[in-house]
Amino acid sequence: MSASNNQCWLITGGAGYIGSHIADEFLTAGKNIVIYDSLYKGLKSRIDYLSKMHNTTINFIEADIRDEAAFTAALKDFKVTGIVHTAALKSVEESMSKRDEYLEVNYHATKRMLEIAKKHGVTHFIFSSTAAVYGNPSSFTACEEAGPTNPINPYGESKLLAEAEVSNFASVVGNIATSFRFFNVIGTGNPELLDNSTSNLVPIIQEKLKSHLPITIFGSGYPTPDGTCIRDYVDVRDIATAHLLAANSNKQLPSAMNIGTGHGASVKEVIDLALQIAGEPNAQVLTADGRSGDPAILFASVDLVENSFGFKCRYSLENSLRSVF
Ligand SMILES: NC(=O)c1ccc[n+]([C@@H]2O[C@H](COP(=O)([O-])OP(=O)(O)OC[C@H]3O[C@@H](n4cnc5c(N)ncnc54)[C@H](O)[C@@H]3O)[C@@H](O)[C@H]2O)c1
Repeated sequence: MSASNNQCWLITGGAGYIGSHIADEFLTAGKNIVIYDSLYKGLKSRIDYLSKMHNTTINFIEADIRDEAAFTAALKDFKVTGIVHTAALKSVEESMSKRDEYLEVNYHATKRMLEIAKKHGVTHFIFSSTAAVYGNPSSFTACEEAGPTNPINPYGESKLLAEAEVSNFASVVGNIATSFRFFNVIGTGNPELLDNSTSNLVPIIQEKLKSHLPITIFGSGYPTPDGTCIRDYVDVRDIATAHLLAANSNKQLPSAMNIGTGHGASVKEVIDLALQIAGEPNAQVLTADGRSGDPAILFASVDLVENSFGFKCRYSLENSLRSVF
């Protein structure tokens, strides 16, 4: 067994959509992992599926990241050396009415976790941040990590505050840490690990098709070629690969990196392609007013992640949608 395989990685939110794909990738690479998740939104069935698929027992701690005693015990009991921190509250809309809760879970708890991690010999920390830190960019160019950040909701604000704590952790000699700013995550490695979020576009399309209800596009008057919002859709399997690369890095990483494809697709394009792949080209699609605070165009600059980190997405939008429909 190599030295890296003796290390133990704790994956918070490992019963979630993205966390379970990262767990899958790490297990495939022969890493020891422990999953830490409150099951607030996560599914135990995802962990059971991974156990079965990898023919192993997965260490699972059902606990909240705000529970300092449980978190400290997990680090000690499993001699954790690296943490992938995906657990979070992630609904932009909900964050508008629950700002304190979003700051508590996404920022304050992350800050305390980093302090505890420092005390207990954890040297690697990979944080799930978001394109929401960019807010509503004033230009239609790709979002660059070194460019302005200006979150327009408590969700993005809580993640940007947490990023600063991750950078602080990375400044300790010997520590390696980064914040990955995910754009819109889609696709799946297996139907058992599908996204179950009620606010993301692809699960919404799936749900509407299943229940034979119309699909609604929010806003058709944006300054884009077809009038609908443009986003950067990145495959969850690419996200998992980026985490493995960061986990295996022995040298310091950029403090924050975009994880996107570098180009955008409109909501209408995604829906049209999804319906075509699903064999439902005539499903009803309605348009409603745009939602306040939705930027017209948001896509990643990938220069930093490709040139400094050596990572490039492999999956096209079509590949990703085909994995789901
Ligand atoms: N899905 C996306 O498109 C997207 C985009 C950008 C960033 N992100 C970030 O990626 C991360 C993972 O997102 P996801 O889509 O997998 O969401 P998810 O809801 O599927 O997974 C989050 C997991 O965290 C767990 N969790 C939530 N609060 C917890 C707490 N207090 N203590 C312990 N566990 C807790 C949930 O039970 C769940 O299993 C989040 O940090 C999210 O902000 C996601």
